[in-house]
Amino acid sequence: MTVLVLGGAGYIGSHTVKALCDEGTDVVVADSLVTGYRAAVDKRARFYEGDISDIDFLDGLFEKEKIDAVIHFAAFSLVGESVTNPLKYYTNNLCGTKVLLESMVKNGVNKIVFSSTAATYGEPERVPIMENDRTEPTNPYGETKLAMEKMFKWTAAAHGLRYVSLRYFNACGADASGTIGEAHNPESHLIPLILQVPNGKRDHVSIFGTDYPTADGTCIRDYIHVTDLADAHILAVKYLMNGGKSDIFNLGNGVGFSVREVIDTARKVTGHPIPAEETPRRAGDPAQLIASSQKAKDILGWKPCHDSLEEIIASAWNWHKNHPNGYEK
Ligand code: UFG
Repeated sequence: MTVLVLGGAGYIGSHTVKALCDEGTDVVVADSLVTGYRAAVDKRARFYEGDISDIDFLDGLFEKEKIDAVIHFAAFSLVGESVTNPLKYYTNNLCGTKVLLESMVKNGVNKIVFSSTAATYGEPERVPIMENDRTEPTNPYGETKLAMEKMFKWTAAAHGLRYVSLRYFNACGADASGTIGEAHNPESHLIPLILQVPNGKRDHVSIFGTDYPTADGTCIRDYIHVTDLADAHILAVKYLMNGGKSDIFNLGNGVGFSVREVIDTARKVTGHPIPAEETPRRAGDPAQLIASSQKAKDILGWKPCHDSLEEIIASAWNWHKNHPNGYEK
């Protein structure tokens, strides 16, 4: 089986590429390297530099490589940036995916697993969140991911394609090898920002809002280890290869931790006092996001194995302390 991983030089993409290579799958990676890093791509995979919105690039790739299934990570994912520059998100995430689908249909490639997000739900009507709950995104990033899901649904119906959409909650942690990890520029995610303090890159971390209706007043999130996410992608590819029908799955641990709990755990793991400063809320943050991943467990046979926050942060710290500046470009 040959799997094409689009966006395989990014955070979750690079971990999935490594997991596929580890289990002996033939892997082809394509990435524009706009936000990804060549150094993050496993050397066992064949690498092509190019953009999914370039139809000639994609057609050439599908002609050259015999692809059984595609995993699609190639998208922009900064919520704040999507609010200030929505068209960048519509162009890349939506128009890019439209070109990808055109090329797949033209070249007879009919199975795809792609990255979606808890941001498709917006403010949840209840927790844990189920896949059929209301989807009302509160930012353009979530809107483009929801629109991608719908584009897949209608294209699948018209052209005999099958897809799995994976809605991740808060991806975090790093591979146990310590060779790949999270590297965003600019960084906006809580755990890497916290770890910049013991790394000497900032003197404190901000707590965005202490007046949420939660036990300690700070936001609660479902933190899911990146290698558990990588496993889910492999299971989803196998599910499609075995004739599984198109579907949408949440991926989370089903356990929520507050911002204060995450900071306290990072203090314990790093042995650093990590000063925290309370600031007003960040716009658009729901108080609580916790997944029900029962469907992924029942249908895909997914078993997330890293549900301890301490273990998750320790794996992230193992990466960040040895790579304070991320990958060399
Ligand atoms: N936070 C802080 N201080 C910081 C950074 C974050 O207090 O310096 C808080 C946020 O307010 C939030 C929590 O930490 O309550 C987690 O924030 P992240 O930015 O790490 O993650 P989000 O929950 O905002 O976003 C994640 C994914 C997005 C996805 C979203 C779904 O990173 O891609 O979940 O809602 F869209």
